[in-house]
Amino acid sequence: MQITLESKPFAGIETEALVFYVFEESDPVQGRVAEIDKLAGGLLGRLAKSGELTGKTLEFTLVHAPAGVKAARLLLVGAGKKEQFNSATLRKIAGAALRYLKSRSVKNLALLVREGDVTEEAAQSVAEGVLTADFEPDKYKTDKKNDKRIESVTIAGYSDAERTAGEKGLTKGRIIADSQNFARDLINEPSNKLTPAILAQKAEAMAKAAGLTVEILDEKRIAELKMGALLSVAQGSIEPPRMMIITYNPPSPRPGAPVIGLIGKAVTFDTGGISIKPADGMEKMKYDMAGGATMIGVMRALAALKPSVKVICVVPSTENMPGGRAQKPGDIQTAMSGKTIEVLNTDAEGRLILADGVHYAKQLGATHLIDAATLTGAVVVALAGINVGVFGSDQAFTDKLLASAKAAGEKMWQLPMDDEYREFIKGTVADIQNISSGKGAGATIGAMFIKEFTGDSPWIHLDIAGTAWNDDAKPWLAKGPTGVALRTLVHLVMSY
Ligand code: BES
Ligand code: ZN
Ligand code: ZN
Repeated sequence: MQITLESKPFAGIETEALVFYVFEESDPVQGRVAEIDKLAGGLLGRLAKSGELTGKTLEFTLVHAPAGVKAARLLLVGAGKKEQFNSATLRKIAGAALRYLKSRSVKNLALLVREGDVTEEAAQSVAEGVLTADFEPDKYKTDKKNDKRIESVTIAGYSDAERTAGEKGLTKGRIIADSQNFARDLINEPSNKLTPAILAQKAEAMAKAAGLTVEILDEKRIAELKMGALLSVAQGSIEPPRMMIITYNPPSPRPGAPVIGLIGKAVTFDTGGISIKPADGMEKMKYDMAGGATMIGVMRALAALKPSVKVICVVPSTENMPGGRAQKPGDIQTAMSGKTIEVLNTDAEGRLILADGVHYAKQLGATHLIDAATLTGAVVVALAGINVGVFGSDQAFTDKLLASAKAAGEKMWQLPMDDEYREFIKGTVADIQNISSGKGAGATIGAMFIKEFTGDSPWIHLDIAGTAWNDDAKPWLAKGPTGVALRTLVHLVMSY
């Protein structure tokens, strides 16, 4: 899909649909909307008066063959209350407009950014909104005869003087959204098409093309490095595990700058192992590699955006299968750090592979750690598909991430990590156990386990189990993989 910025007056833009947004106010026909209203002979004023045009969030009003403008249609999208409007609303409006028009076989559209909103950030949001909205998880459908496609999007409303800022935002938005879609494409792959080895190949190809340093550890190297926690999960599968390391080195590193470690859980299929999951809904466990895919996508974006800090991405990947060699409840494993673990439930495997992942990231020089993982069903109970669960060992670092989440328009909510929860994972015969001996706080317990391997490093854990997959389509996003947390993490790294 082509996206361009157009600085000529919007009345003269030849497009199948001119999209603009309208606030929920006593008179929604104001500013640029009033200008269009005038050209269209007062049509919008009449729609507002009749109650058809209110500006309520994501209300759509489609007008065909409007007078006074070159566009074939006008699409008015409700933007809600003006006080609450921000770049996240604009991103959703752009995305929802694209999906609305695409379903009506429209092939191109122009979105008019409103007076007062014409910034670099707005152009970025529009680009991100339309590109992520355009993604369809239909790669394996063979009948594409009736496929509807948006071929081009024009961002309008920027004057010649505002053009540079707009172009900058558009470029940045494209890099980020393409990377988010890259991650979503990986997440959407079923486990027979995406084994740990195939994921590693794809990560390596991406890294090489993007100019990043990459190293793939195979099962032999993983064993030599004594990554016992990762190996314990992998031993039940005939598919060998992989550990991916992708590094971004800034052109001129700032002395004393942090080195960010991004660790992502990539279980290409989670059957639960010997502690096997129920059949109902098990097919969804192909997305148990979403954390890893997201981190690989973040690196893809960073390679183009060139932040000034070093970033090391570590992705442990395996299947979790109940094979003849699979680990069994009660088995004791030694993690790379030397800590011993009682594996009381083989379905709590994400924390095991992350134990070695965070330890290795530290060993490679990461000073600040962030992991992303579809870790617990408990976070789905707590926050559903609305918020990412956030856990942190350092409040200043966690606050910085939460601020980035807000700026990137991704909902995240911090959950507790009190020392008292440590008791719940104290081992009986080994150092720690991989599930709680008590009841409740399942998402926190998962985080507490990972924390055991982070030492004194500031560390954040993102539990994306509830948010990595959309069970239902949203007006601005297809059903399926979301690529959540990518934008926040890119924003966070860029803020250093
Ligand atoms: N991959 C699952 C978590 C999950 C649940 C992801 C729902 C996406 C949607 C994880 O490995 C798991 O099975 N966790 C267990 C932990 C329990 C055994 C302590 C869970 O949450 O049930
Ligand atoms: Zn599991
Ligand atoms: Zn899992």
